[in-house]
Amino acid sequence: MTSSIAAHLLAWYDDHARVLPWRAQPGEPPNDPYRVWLSEVMLQQTTTAAVKPYFHAFTDRWPTIDDLAAAPEEEIMAAWAGLGYYSRARNLVKAARAVAQRGGFPETEKGLRELPGLGAYTAAAVAAIAFGQRAVVVDANVERVVSRLFAIDEVLPGARKSIRAKTDMITPDRRAGDFAQGMMDLGATICTTRDPKCLLCPLAGDCEGRIAGDPARFPVKPAKKAKPLRQGRAWWIEREGPEGPVVWLVTRPGKGMLGGMRALPDDGWSARGDGLGGEEGEMLGLVRHGFTHFDLELSVVRGSVPLGEGEWWPIDRIEAAGLPTLYAKAARLALA
Ligand code: ADE
Ligand code: SF4
Repeated sequence: MTSSIAAHLLAWYDDHARVLPWRAQPGEPPNDPYRVWLSEVMLQQTTTAAVKPYFHAFTDRWPTIDDLAAAPEEEIMAAWAGLGYYSRARNLVKAARAVAQRGGFPETEKGLRELPGLGAYTAAAVAAIAFGQRAVVVDANVERVVSRLFAIDEVLPGARKSIRAKTDMITPDRRAGDFAQGMMDLGATICTTRDPKCLLCPLAGDCEGRIAGDPARFPVKPAKKAKPLRQGRAWWIEREGPEGPVVWLVTRPGKGMLGGMRALPDDGWSARGDGLGGEEGEMLGLVRHGFTHFDLELSVVRGSVPLGEGEWWPIDRIEAAGLPTLYAKAARLALA
């Protein structure tokens, strides 16, 4: 069955689908599941503009899932540096290896869901977009559009159940992948967070939120808690190597914040006891960085003695170390 919402949305998508490097345009055969999957993992909590260069870099370097599965985890983590939410990269590696091992992607949502490192959202998105299966795909864009279409008054995250049920109700049996991508495009370009452009919207006649007069109040969000501020200290330890100046870099432990990423040695931020103790060196400056649940103020201090397990890294190749943004900022500060 096709709801009138789906019919209106698909007709709009046929004319207005954004052209994106991982996407088959409406009417074309689906894109390679590897590319669909990789893009969906990258696009979680990240904009299309930020994802594009990473998508190109990954697919140039690892053109197939077998290439990605054969790559050392550190190289993949380093290539992910700057995209954030690094658990996605660790899960990417797990899923890639499982898919390569079984000789390709499962083609159903249930089969995809059983792969390690592949979550509910990604399974639904890949099943719908790469394999043409009917699956209910809900990301933040869909959440926003659907909560407006049905004027869902419940507060997030509790509202997710109703949002999913409504999305299920309006998802068509055919073209569920185009439907999902159309909802995402609508959310990104017309039904935007602050100022939905209802006059341009193909679903205006279907939309209870618009009819009630203030669609931007959906989805209803809980009052924001102020983010705590954490403080920490990182050491910039530089010396002259045989081929030029080098700096001491560690690799962070596999799990937890920025796990598996190269980093400057630091004190674990706010004395949780899992960091390194180091010298009271020359203060090079402060770096601020916002994480999801806290802000961090990191003092960057010059050190002279290597701390923790690490490696000397040539400073003229610091870009290739794959430092996550926080430490890349600290390195820029130290080198300024
Ligand atoms: N955001 C997440 N997945 C997307 C897709 N396939 N197209 C556009 N935006 C997206
Ligand atoms: Fe969003 Fe307005 Fe369209 Fe409703 S009519 S879906 S609020 S843009």
